[in-house]
Amino acid sequence: MVARFRIVGGARLHGEVQISGAKNSALKLMAAALLAPGISTIRNVPDIADVDIMAELLTRLGCTVVHGAGEVKITVPEKLSHRAEYDLVRRMRASINVLGPLVARMKAAEVALPGGDAIGSRGLDFHIKGLEALGAQIHNEHGYVIATAPTGLSGAEIVLDFPSVGATENIMTAAVLAKGVTTIDNAAREPDIVDLGEFLIAMGAKIEGLGSPKITITGVKELSPTTHETIPDRIVAGTWAFAAAMTQGDITIRGANASHLEVPLEKLASAGAVVTTTTDGIRVHMENRPQAIDIATLPYPGFPTDLQPMVITLNAIAVGDAIVTENVFEGRFMFVNELIRLGAQINIDGHHAAIRGILRLSAAPVVATDIRAGAGLVLAGLVSDGITFVDDAFHVDRGYPNFAEQLQALGADVTRVE
Ligand code: UD1
Repeated sequence: MVARFRIVGGARLHGEVQISGAKNSALKLMAAALLAPGISTIRNVPDIADVDIMAELLTRLGCTVVHGAGEVKITVPEKLSHRAEYDLVRRMRASINVLGPLVARMKAAEVALPGGDAIGSRGLDFHIKGLEALGAQIHNEHGYVIATAPTGLSGAEIVLDFPSVGATENIMTAAVLAKGVTTIDNAAREPDIVDLGEFLIAMGAKIEGLGSPKITITGVKELSPTTHETIPDRIVAGTWAFAAAMTQGDITIRGANASHLEVPLEKLASAGAVVTTTTDGIRVHMENRPQAIDIATLPYPGFPTDLQPMVITLNAIAVGDAIVTENVFEGRFMFVNELIRLGAQINIDGHHAAIRGILRLSAAPVVATDIRAGAGLVLAGLVSDGITFVDDAFHVDRGYPNFAEQLQALGADVTRVE
């Protein structure tokens, strides 16, 4: 049965939310567990559909995965199968993260090409060039990336054209078992990269420079399983921060790490929100209608592209005009057409969106096109007159545990209907 969200406009969100582990970290940690035979445990894993997809993928590769109560236990055998099938990869792009670990450990990997995505073309060229530099031989065949490294991998100096998160991860998780030293220049600096690196270090890897643009990895012969706690989800935390500001509410976001959200929180302050860092999180409080804010998305520590739908929605009901520039994913403005159905005044010119704030949006049925767009549209429903329906709720389930229940606890009338 296909589910949709039903949102009654007008709520000012008040109360507390608890942030769980980051989706984009937990999935990569699960894939990296493949690097060491034995039992690895990952804690603070969010209760979302993508974790089940990654668990299924690891199971098909030969692991035993037990998932319950915020924890995933992965038993990794000595010999893994090395093929990640299209039916799983197409459902979740993070499946591509098994490529590096499989080439490093099994000297072979066959991973389905993820194909186009609703937020842009999302190539794999940086992943492939990086692994080739480490000595892998790679070609495409029947929709699969086929990688082999019969004599193993060797360290190399790699310079990324763009600080791609996924490419940095795949290169890192291959280089940890390569002979010699690998450097990654123009590496991604996201907190997810640091979390993954710390997991690998706990397994016995030698890595320096995490969180900086240059990562140095000295290969080791083997790694051992470990237990690791996932960092809090900064995108979910940021979503709640924007939700508080746009609904003129007051939300305490427990478990959030403010240092992972410096630029978004500064932007919210310039929109008029009172942002305070508490001992265990962040409080965002807004008394008045937000002021419009200009934003350009950039790799970390810049403004995250994953919060772009939230900032466009905020600007749609703000005082004044704003320009939002998307520099990471070209297709991400698809969701703007849905927002326009709600009456938002937005013009797109290339990768710029010009937004003229109006007092309120006007409820209508809309469709979620990806995880973050879906969350942005649910929030847009809260600042609309009337009842908004957001179709294809499954997108939102992939990133936001119990989204409707959490909104209800904050005083909103939001339900899931089948
Ligand atoms: C990850 C996140 C995603 C987030 C993004 C940027 C996961 C599962 N997803 O995606 O939520 O929005 O980081 O913070 O963690 N590119 C290429 N060639 C490549 C690789 C990337 O051209 O080989 C391009 C992409 O098309 C995109 C840009 O580089 O335009 C950034 O992509 P990347 O940082 O790799 O994002 P993902 O790891 O896919």
